[in-house]
Amino acid sequence: MPQFFDAENPFTDEAVAKQWATSVEIESGNWRDKVLYPEMRKWLAGITEPKPIILDVGSGQGRGSTEIDGYGKYIGVEPSEFLVDRAKQLYSAANRDFVIGNAYELPIVSESVDGVISVNVFFHLADLETAVKEMSRVLRRGGSFFVNTASYDSVDVWKTLYTDLVVSETMMQGNIRLPETEPTLNTFYFQPNQLVIDRLEKYGLHVEKVSYSCEKDGKTLFITIEGRRV
Ligand SMILES: C[S@@+](CC[C@H](N)C(=O)[O-])C[C@H]1O[C@@H](n2cnc3c(N)ncnc32)[C@H](O)[C@@H]1O
Repeated sequence: MPQFFDAENPFTDEAVAKQWATSVEIESGNWRDKVLYPEMRKWLAGITEPKPIILDVGSGQGRGSTEIDGYGKYIGVEPSEFLVDRAKQLYSAANRDFVIGNAYELPIVSESVDGVISVNVFFHLADLETAVKEMSRVLRRGGSFFVNTASYDSVDVWKTLYTDLVVSETMMQGNIRLPETEPTLNTFYFQPNQLVIDRLEKYGLHVEKVSYSCEKDGKTLFITIEGRRV
């Protein structure tokens, strides 16, 4: 009988982190390459600051640092020690910092970054409100954000991607089938799309663009939300 995992973030478990890193490193020619990274590059090109400082919240093993360019500095904040070490191994550069830290208490000075990205992290957060408040705190006024997360409108399709699923009122947990690796432990918090948008707006992160991508079974798995701090 499947049971709930007792830590909030399964990625801090080394075996789970390793499976995630393997999947992201091996996969190619799919949604990330075709849609996500081109959209991120377009977003970055829209930042008018000449050498912007970009913060990546929940940066995983840092692939985002190499898929976008033109930044003055990239800072990846990630709670998994394994993934931070992997990022340093793969993508170290003078203008890239990979640091251990948490979305709920970012190790970043207030209003010090020009852009914040966060890719497929929000739906892993039990306390979205604190994370959004922190994102807003560190982003300078007029700075841009790019958030990609699971679209709750497609939660029924997401459920089909898991095995051994356990579901509560607020979240579901199970082993997700990732490309290129064994099913791996994963937690999905239920966050209706409008709730995510409302949280961003509540903390001064004004939403300017919402798009959906990655079609499966007639639905789109991801929502991308872009905007600026007012
Ligand atoms: C699906 S992975 C995405 C990683 C990376 N953004 C990417 O797209 O390759 C989710 C990431 O969110 C991170 N994460 C989960 N809870 C977090 C928290 N409270 N603060 C920061 N990151 C968190 C995990 O450690 C993991 O690296």
